[in-house]
Amino acid sequence: MSQSHNRLLFIETVGCQMNVLDSELVVAALREQGYELTDQVGDADTVLFNTCSVREHAEHKIYSQLGRLKYSKRKRPDQVIGVFGCMAQKDQELIFQRAPHVDMVVGTGQLAEIPRLVSEARRDRTRALAVSLDRRGGSRLEVASSFESYDPLRDPTMRPSPFQAFVRIMIGCDKFCTYCVVPTTRGPEQSRPPSQVASEVRMLAGQGVREVTLIGQTVNSYSHVEDGRSWRLADLLELIHDTDGIKRIKFVTNFPRDMDTPLLEAVGDLSKVCRYLHVPAQSGSDAVLERMKRGYTVDEYREMMGRINEIVPGCAVSSDFIVGFCGESDQEFEASVRLVEECRFKNSFIFKYSARSGTKADDRLDDDVPDAVKRERNARLLEVQTAICEEDNALFIGRSVEVLVEGPSKMTLKQQKRQHRGTPHPMPGVELSEESDVDLVSLEPGPVPEDPDPLTGPIQLVGRTDCDRIVVFDGNPRLAGSLASISVEDCTATTLLGRIITRELQHAPVIELPVL
Ligand code: 5AD
Ligand code: SF4
Repeated sequence: MSQSHNRLLFIETVGCQMNVLDSELVVAALREQGYELTDQVGDADTVLFNTCSVREHAEHKIYSQLGRLKYSKRKRPDQVIGVFGCMAQKDQELIFQRAPHVDMVVGTGQLAEIPRLVSEARRDRTRALAVSLDRRGGSRLEVASSFESYDPLRDPTMRPSPFQAFVRIMIGCDKFCTYCVVPTTRGPEQSRPPSQVASEVRMLAGQGVREVTLIGQTVNSYSHVEDGRSWRLADLLELIHDTDGIKRIKFVTNFPRDMDTPLLEAVGDLSKVCRYLHVPAQSGSDAVLERMKRGYTVDEYREMMGRINEIVPGCAVSSDFIVGFCGESDQEFEASVRLVEECRFKNSFIFKYSARSGTKADDRLDDDVPDAVKRERNARLLEVQTAICEEDNALFIGRSVEVLVEGPSKMTLKQQKRQHRGTPHPMPGVELSEESDVDLVSLEPGPVPEDPDPLTGPIQLVGRTDCDRIVVFDGNPRLAGSLASISVEDCTATTLLGRIITRELQHAPVIELPVL
């Protein structure tokens, strides 16, 4: 095999869970054609970037990486470079103008085309642009069908862990919040048929998956008519709940206005559904919410929080906030601080407003909050949230919690990487940027035994409670994928630190190994 066509694929993924899942599917399709992953971009004959447009920073990073590849491509002219995902759909031809050495630009709705386009780019050295229609480029049906849902093959090696998988239940968004590019980059809202979702969950359970996370931009807006019956998310949860092998079910991201009582009742009643809801508030000021066109008031958000606490006691709620949105005054920002204090979110993702071309806010409102003020507000809100996280995590000290063991903690992985240079990364070739909204195993360093033997000795493991709290503890790596009871002894703002008490017996006919 020539050095130039070695079927080594480097793929970098930035952005949300949708992108992580899309990369898994693209890699699975390319593996069918004999591709293998590498984490060395210089070795790869095919380099793909799965991109995000939600904030400018994420785009900058990709453009500067593309810039660097210009020189390596001179040495390696056969390399195929492709850009896919949200930035591809948004910038289209502009990507070729800014990075002429890129061979293909593929939108979020054309991912199934990637294997063919890679082969054609290599064979013909022609450029390919495959994107969906603009939101105003045709009737709703035409635009919607130009965004294909892409959920064919799965690739277990590309998952956050072998026991956890994302399942897409809907694509697109029709909410059109004024700051957001997603309705443009991901197209109209379309829900997948419940029977398809259920069979995908069964298939994943058969592959050893224990926890599924149903994903959609506004996952609780799910709505599908099948066989004359109208299905909402609550019905879908009930449908998949009894799938053999599945122990936990989560869903992200929720839209506050669609958090209806039947859904909360389903979360409260179905034992496998995690008591954890991510419901972005975005702001604590009615005037800002109005300018964002979020479609609810702060009081309505409060009312929703009240219903969550009443129907699902102990449920953890997390949020997103944008600070420094167009015209945000000091008082309006303070209202967000108050909402964080009042709701005591489990955690909040806080973002500085980033003007995005093609959005209503960018067309009609002034991005008039200076960057220094945005930074200050970001730091302040984060400080308030972090203090709440510390206080609420401390309440767990002395209690025992049940976790689904995910595997080695981030710190163990780092240690193992140092000790065994060259051992494969759990997701080889997948570089999740720090900008990523996906919190894989982001942990504070905790105590770990010196020189643990990765095969026999205890190592630092990570798991999550059903309320999504991260817990680290020492244990045998073979516990990954099982439920374990942990006695919590200490904490940081992000992590509970504990000791294992009991663990669930593996059902599979494996030899029982000592835990500690
Ligand atoms: N600027 C800053 N943050 C944004 N988000 C979406 N669009 C923007 C933007 N233009 C944030 C929102 C959303 C999260 C995924 O990203 O808080 O919930
Ligand atoms: Fe963007 Fe609003 Fe849709 Fe979320 S609900 S994806 S913020 S437009």
